[in-house]
Amino acid sequence: MKSVQKENSQIVSNSYQGKKYHIVTYGCQMNVHESEKLRGILSVLNMSETEDIDKADVIVFNTCCIREGAEDRAYNNVIALKPIKEQDPSKVIVMCGCMPQQKKGKYNLKEKLPFVDIIIGTHNMNMLDQYLLKHAITGEQIYDIIEKPVTGMDNAKAIRDDHLNAYVNIIYGCNKFCTYCIVPYVRGRESSRLPQDIYLEVRDLVQNQGYKYITLLGQNVNSYGKDLKYPMSFAELLKYLCTIEGDFKIKFMTSHPMDFTDDIIKVMKTEYKVAKTLHLPVQSGSSRILAKMNRHYNVKHYMGIIKRIKRAIPNISLSTDIIVGFPGETVRDFEMTLKLLKKVKFDQVFAFMYSKRTGTPAATFENQIDEKEKNVRLNKLLRLQKMIQKEQIKKYFNKTYDCLIRHINGVAVGITDGGKEIYIPGYKYVNQNYFAPVKVENIRNHKLSGVIK
Ligand code: SAH
Ligand code: SF4
Ligand code: F3S
Repeated sequence: MKSVQKENSQIVSNSYQGKKYHIVTYGCQMNVHESEKLRGILSVLNMSETEDIDKADVIVFNTCCIREGAEDRAYNNVIALKPIKEQDPSKVIVMCGCMPQQKKGKYNLKEKLPFVDIIIGTHNMNMLDQYLLKHAITGEQIYDIIEKPVTGMDNAKAIRDDHLNAYVNIIYGCNKFCTYCIVPYVRGRESSRLPQDIYLEVRDLVQNQGYKYITLLGQNVNSYGKDLKYPMSFAELLKYLCTIEGDFKIKFMTSHPMDFTDDIIKVMKTEYKVAKTLHLPVQSGSSRILAKMNRHYNVKHYMGIIKRIKRAIPNISLSTDIIVGFPGETVRDFEMTLKLLKKVKFDQVFAFMYSKRTGTPAATFENQIDEKEKNVRLNKLLRLQKMIQKEQIKKYFNKTYDCLIRHINGVAVGITDGGKEIYIPGYKYVNQNYFAPVKVENIRNHKLSGVIK
């Protein structure tokens, strides 16, 4: 493909120069960030972005297949473009990401979507410019799914959405193979970026571009560095990045309880620049189900981490992911999950109904749970969590949180590391977007207010 770009540089300027693109993104933060890199790739073709899909010459769907619902949504939205493409065949439609990368997806995309011009997977998205060029020459559909990355997405320059928080990849892929999950099949094996590359990217974002939060991304960030020639642990990477000068904080996601070692807790406690927030998906409160999920930890291990991190960092904000209705989950197993939520009192819970993913072991497990029952369990869990969160607001009273001071609708607001807003009435800000400690002095109508200390 490389030579295509060289030979047809004339065609680049002729066919895409000045045209507009629109990207629709589904799925996780990883995908959101990859879309930011797709923007970088498309800008190299001298294209500009439009918010209005109707005005776009190139429409890109960056898809997700984590659950059936995600697939259906993307598929239906692509299908909806068929009449538009028929009306104006010069529009170029691209589908990329996790959905086409599946071996046995719900939809046979090549057959069902002949009007989609380019269908590529996760491992060759970084060559979108070259696929577009080729398409401009041949006018034919390109369907190309490859099994291993040729080069990573790192060579693409991200054009980021947000101006406060920047996503930065540290590790790609996943080696865990939880029995319900499609990610290892569509994202390949773990591959860490070199520490110095991450360092330089973060330094540039903080010192030259003014970012206040850096969110390190990976399917399992705690696995970072194990595959490097000179291994470096995730805790060591955090320490290294904290040596970058500047007023900023580092967040990271996602952590896996199996690899969430105490050295990470230590760095989180001692390093001011590591945000006091942690997303630690537990998935289930039943050790029996966790074993069937191939999660490599039990409830006791998970609760041990929670106990230690709460002790080390009392102001920590915690969130988790839960799957309800995993095959064979009994009412008793489910109640153990509710019990865990009551014990931990997460600040936020992302709960999902188990969705069968063809090609994963759990899809063939016996005792699949009825959709209706899954729905009943999900709603029960969400109701409980809502109550817990309502109660949780009390814990903020009289406590001091290190906050990013912002100016929202004419009022100064402190944003905690966990994203909670604390209003600071009467505060005359000279500037904004700096970190300062804020003490909560009032809680009214579930709103917090306080003073800068
Ligand atoms: N790497 C992360 C999560 C990636 S997917 C981790 O290990 O935690 C994000 C969340 O989607 C998972 O935590 C899980 O709760 C949910 N999920 C994954 N596969 C699913 C499936 N087949 N059905 C329902 N939820 C699923
Ligand atoms: Fe999926 Fe498990 Fe890997 Fe997370 S750790 S991406 S849930 S296989
Ligand atoms: Fe979805 Fe792929 Fe992320 S399946 S959750 S977009 S890694």
